[in-house]
Amino acid sequence: MERPYILHLITPAAHVSPFDVNMAADAGYQVLMPYHGIDMAAVAGLTQDAIFSRGPKGVARTGLFVGGRDVLQAADMLDAARKAMVPPFVVSVFADPSGAYTTAAAGVAAVQAQLRRGHSTELRGKHVLVIGGTGPVGRIAGVLADRQGATVRSSSSKGLEAAERAVEETNRRFGSRLIGVSGGDAEALRASLAEAEVVISAATAGVEAVSVDDLARATRLLVAADMNAVPPAGIAGVGPMDNGKPLPGTQAVAIGALAIGNLKYQVQHRLLVRMRTSEKPVSLSFAEAFDLAGEVLAEAPAT
Ligand SMILES: NC(=O)c1ccc[n+]([C@@H]2O[C@H](COP(=O)([O-])OP(=O)(O)OC[C@H]3O[C@@H](n4cnc5c(N)ncnc54)[C@H](OP(=O)(O)O)[C@@H]3O)[C@@H](O)[C@H]2O)c1
Repeated sequence: MERPYILHLITPAAHVSPFDVNMAADAGYQVLMPYHGIDMAAVAGLTQDAIFSRGPKGVARTGLFVGGRDVLQAADMLDAARKAMVPPFVVSVFADPSGAYTTAAAGVAAVQAQLRRGHSTELRGKHVLVIGGTGPVGRIAGVLADRQGATVRSSSSKGLEAAERAVEETNRRFGSRLIGVSGGDAEALRASLAEAEVVISAATAGVEAVSVDDLARATRLLVAADMNAVPPAGIAGVGPMDNGKPLPGTQAVAIGALAIGNLKYQVQHRLLVRMRTSEKPVSLSFAEAFDLAGEVLAEAPAT
């Protein structure tokens, strides 16, 4: 009998995400084993339990998925799992906590594509404002835009101190240069919008983070990307399916949550297929997700 494809899903949370379970099954994993309440100290032991039982052929059919909500801790867990491998007993690993790695990758890749298509320019050197910059998606979107050479301001609706605390943690973990700014009142938000050439709203679902009046101050804006699919839109006037549509009252184009979600879905699916089918074990995080999102967009340019 051919060995089944097994995916061990670990999370520090109370349960693994049903979204990830569905995605893994649809990518061809036949046995899905969830582990919840996992802390850093448990990762090495779990990993070694998973690698030694199936022989070199079996490890190729075994994978480890890291979930949870904390995008910094997930990166640490991914590293801890990799360090615990004992060659040739090495399995593929993929971290996508709260879907944030693949969602942020899809959002930033979509922004990059619209800057090229709509404005013949790049993220490099641009002023990017990430709203909801303390959240899982916002932190990673900021890091990815920073890695593309943008100057990234990351806001918190709780004010400057909360924003600075989050960027300090994120910068320390990923070596990024995010700048914390207050989004705690309309004037603070509008001052940041006045500078921004790109705004990415990664604020919590169902909240209008940027109003029509706020947008009136965004006179330099080229691209507005909204991650929130739950009405009302996170950025007023951005439709969920928009993908390069002019944003009323601005010179910018809009990217909506379902356009980003569609790309995110394709990226997560293909990364899961890659880890299952790759001849050599792979380690997948938001950098790989971002590269793949760019490849998917290049295959079928959005309109
Ligand atoms: N399109 C997709 O495929 C996809 C996939 C996954 C997630 N999402 C969406 O992406 C967004 C970000 O996800 P997430 O998990 O990172 O979200 P989250 O943790 O629920 O929220 C992100 C941040 O929103 C901020 N926030 C809360 N209330 C706010 C308000 N009234 N105004 C402005 N900001 C506020 C919070 O930071 P402060 O309190 O510091 O401001 C929080 O850290 C959500 O809308 C989520 O639904 C989309």
